[in-house]
Amino acid sequence: MIFTIAIDGPAAAGKGTLAKALAQHFGFAYLDTGLLYRATARKVLDGLDPVAAAKALSTHDFTRDGLRTAKVGQGASKIAAMPKVRAALIDFQQKFARQQGGAVLDGRDIGTVICPQAEIKLFVTASDEVRAARRFAEISQKNETATLALVLEDLRQRDQRDRDRATAPMIQAQNSILLDTSDLDASQALAKAIAIVAVHPGLLT
Ligand code: DC
Repeated sequence: MIFTIAIDGPAAAGKGTLAKALAQHFGFAYLDTGLLYRATARKVLDGLDPVAAAKALSTHDFTRDGLRTAKVGQGASKIAAMPKVRAALIDFQQKFARQQGGAVLDGRDIGTVICPQAEIKLFVTASDEVRAARRFAEISQKNETATLALVLEDLRQRDQRDRDRATAPMIQAQNSILLDTSDLDASQALAKAIAIVAVHPGLLT
């Protein structure tokens, strides 16, 4: 069975948590595509050329320290606006999406560019304030200099860049379902997503 669940949306909307849980529920493979851009950005911060860094990604790059920092997130958003960087990463993502056994991918352009034929497309969002509060709760124990205002500013800057770029901008795919998680906790969001996926006839083939 080939079955792709594409999950797009802005930063810290809960896409990753939802995508991982959905993959586990249905026994599908899961890919956090933001990690590809973060791992590339990390190598660029080490001095590599962005396109060369994207082409040379290896599994070791995905387990490095610091991939989740705001600095690497901003770097990822910047190199993600470069068409040649995106081109270097597209083939791997498309093969992952159409593998046998089902796949869940989360990112910004999964339903629009990577896998327009995805059986299910979700656009997961939440208000800026809710997203910032969630991210702040996640990082404030580790990062003592973080403030809610700085986290909010960081998310807004990144979203604007990701939305305004010319290549593969973050937009809701026309045939995607909007899931606003502002008033939902992770298990409520998962229940809604499972209900959407479970009735798709493609699951039975
Ligand atoms: O999902 P994330 O916040 O870890 O992603 C980091 C950055 O990578 C994000 O700001 C934009 C970029 N990205 C992208 O352009 N396309 C994707 N499919 C995933 C991430």
